Amino acid sequence: MLTTFRPGYGPPEHLEIREAPVPDVSADEILVRVHASSVNRTDSGVQRGRPFIFRFFAGFPRPRYSATGTDFAGVVEAVGADVTEFSPGERVYGFDDTGLGTHAQYVALTRRTSVLRIPESLTFAEAVGLTEGAFYAVNFVNKVDAGPGSRILVIGGTGAIGSSAIQILVSRGVHVDAVAPVEHADLVRSLGATMVFDAGGTDHLVGTRPYDVVFDAVGKSRFSDCRAVLTEEGAYLSSELGPRGENLLLPAVTRARGGPRVTFPIPRDVHGSLAYVRRLAQRGQFRAVIDRTYPLADVRKAFEYVESGQKIGTVVLDLE
Ligand SMILES: NC(=O)c1ccc[n+]([C@@H]2O[C@H](COP(=O)([O-])OP(=O)(O)OC[C@H]3O[C@@H](n4cnc5c(N)ncnc54)[C@H](OP(=O)(O)O)[C@@H]3O)[C@@H](O)[C@H]2O)c1
Repeated sequence: MLTTFRPGYGPPEHLEIREAPVPDVSADEILVRVHASSVNRTDSGVQRGRPFIFRFFAGFPRPRYSATGTDFAGVVEAVGADVTEFSPGERVYGFDDTGLGTHAQYVALTRRTSVLRIPESLTFAEAVGLTEGAFYAVNFVNKVDAGPGSRILVIGGTGAIGSSAIQILVSRGVHVDAVAPVEHADLVRSLGATMVFDAGGTDHLVGTRPYDVVFDAVGKSRFSDCRAVLTEEGAYLSSELGPRGENLLLPAVTRARGGPRVTFPIPRDVHGSLAYVRRLAQRGQFRAVIDRTYPLADVRKAFEYVESGQKIGTVVLDLE
């Protein structure tokens, strides 16, 4: 089988494609023939080992998996003697934010891995569009109490996290406005955003009706920029730590000071989050936003594109 190979943490230029034996399955594992995976911002972090602390989860001093890849969609090829949940031939997908080595044509997965059945109507590419960004989006939006009547501004409506967050919030009856590159305003409106502000401007920071939540899904703003468009009880969330890690300190500072607060979630419960998004997809309330598809041979190019910060939703790696 073909697989990516990396000698250690480093830039995408260090990635190679190699031939390797198809893994054996032990009693509690399933073997999956991977048809699609994504290349996402988490892959980039796991590949580079950045931030450094991430290496304690992804493997120290070297990555736990020699292959890159955090998600997969494929077909169960074989199951170990103790596995009763899955059978050969079933279409499955899954994710792990610390890496799974799924940029490979076959992968052996233990019971600890979050594995779900692909809804019948979805392709393999669409299934990997329900993983990484959606997982973080669920964790972020669950950190705030928002439902019908709430108003939320999502900065970065075209990203994997932002495009997922808009759909999840809209499914909960929330009024969502978004900030996105002007050329993708129609896409972002089609996900359920009411008003789309141009990412190149500052109109979103001068609104007259304040928001209950500002969620910066691309980590490009600061709380100090967004405070003016938040209600007194409002909350600011960002998917990035901010300058000098301020988004880790500001939750305590803003709680003590009163007024709009900053909150920063630690993402958890991969399986519960994926299952939640799968239910939304089955109800027609969530769809994968798919950008480019790269063949495995072009995996470096896929990483480079993801690291450009310009992707729209999910970049797919084709492993057919
Ligand atoms: N905290 C966590 O646990 C966690 C986990 C994963 C990722 N992250 C971080 O979250 C961020 C988003 O990840 P992602 O995968 O969703 O990103 P992504 O898919 O790479 O999204 C990038 C998109 O955002 C747009 N964009 C860039 N600057 C913008 C701005 N100022 N306003 C509005 N839109 C803008 C880009 O458009 P253009 O083409 O115009 O640039 C592009 O379409 C990354 O910084 C990533 O490192 C955090």
